Amino acid sequence: MAKVQAPRGTHDVLPAQEDARHALEEAAARILGAAGYERIETPMFEATDLFKRTVGESTDIVQKEMYTFEDGGGRSLTLRPEVTAPIARAYLEHGMHKLPQPVKLWYLSACFRYERAQAGRQRQFWQIGAEAIGAADPAVDAELITLLHRVLDEVGVEELELRISSLGTPATRASYRDRLQAHLRAHEDQLSEEVRGRIDLNPLRAFDSDHPGTVEVMKTAPLLLDELDADDAAHFAQVRELLDVADVAYVIDPTLVRGLDYYARTVFEFTSGALGAQSAVGGGGRYDGLVEQLGGPVTPGCGWAAGVERILLAAGERAAGSTQIDLYVAFEGEAQRTAAFAIATYARQAGRHAQLELAGRSMKGQLKAAARVGARFVVIVREDGTVLKDMDSGEQHDVDPAPDAVVAAVQRGMGSL
Ligand code: HAM
Repeated sequence: MAKVQAPRGTHDVLPAQEDARHALEEAAARILGAAGYERIETPMFEATDLFKRTVGESTDIVQKEMYTFEDGGGRSLTLRPEVTAPIARAYLEHGMHKLPQPVKLWYLSACFRYERAQAGRQRQFWQIGAEAIGAADPAVDAELITLLHRVLDEVGVEELELRISSLGTPATRASYRDRLQAHLRAHEDQLSEEVRGRIDLNPLRAFDSDHPGTVEVMKTAPLLLDELDADDAAHFAQVRELLDVADVAYVIDPTLVRGLDYYARTVFEFTSGALGAQSAVGGGGRYDGLVEQLGGPVTPGCGWAAGVERILLAAGERAAGSTQIDLYVAFEGEAQRTAAFAIATYARQAGRHAQLELAGRSMKGQLKAAARVGARFVVIVREDGTVLKDMDSGEQHDVDPAPDAVVAAVQRGMGSL
């Protein structure tokens, strides 16, 4: 019979990969927690309209990447392709505007996009993200960028580059859009078919194209960054100044486009040279109109999300901090199993990482297994005596077989007593 496989673009997270993921989650929780961000979890599916209204009807995400379905009651639901819109919804729904502002939240959530699957691009992937809703201060933008930089740096993402830009207000963007469309129309014959087809819908995406003719046309295109109004330009200048203070290096990239429509003012993206074509590790920006688009009051907001799989790919070996096994409990003869079990149980109660032989291996096989899991000590329980072996030095000595005595000897050996 044909085997059933995981759907394309999804993957199992096997035990060998869990340590690295856990280390990332721990780093994010610690770094974001220390900066006052609290964890939130939103549902895996939402009303389809939530994403249409915020991410934008003309974006790739809404046009072709959403997993949308009708439930038994005929409602259109969508597996979340991102978490910012759900968080803005939750902010409104739970009256978080009554809390001290900004409300600072972080998440680690599965997201779903029907994209062409390749290395670093999946149909189910995980995002770590942070959102600060309710403050327009440029320090919010700079704080968020600095925190993402710290998370990526701490887990060992290499060859990081940060690009930043500002998109101004929707009004600035609207008049800029007219000028850009005029420029594209004037050079329509040189553009790729895809870009030509999107002049009306999404002319900004032309900056993303790698089609040679389009690239040439975009070299002389007007830049939004040159047309910011005074407030937006001042806001952007302050974000840059604060990033300088935080010692976070960046490149100003006026062509930076993000694939979501809700942004205003600051946008940013971290890429890693350690990744292939899908080089964006994380990105985000300010979304001052988002809560309003959901029927709420005018509320500024800013945030980012970073792909867990991409972070781990870019961090390579460095992300993998594995759990140290303190004690491997080996035993010889069925009669010793109970004593061995008691030692392992006691060691775990005492907070030690302990493993018990469970596969009926020979003593040689047990010692090999202990070495393979990287055990620091092995206790060998035999009828004629119990021995504690230090796997680092190779030294071994007799110990009292009582569980507390064995564990005390391990603690002493590890320098914690
Ligand atoms: P985004 O740039 O669409 O932004 O996604 C953020 C990150 O998620 C990307 O940089 C990438 O690392 C990861 N990612 C996206 N799609 C995939 C995929 N198909 N496979 C693997 N990883 C992927 C957002 O989602 C915004 N909500 C970010 C944000 C938060 N803006 C403000 N607040």
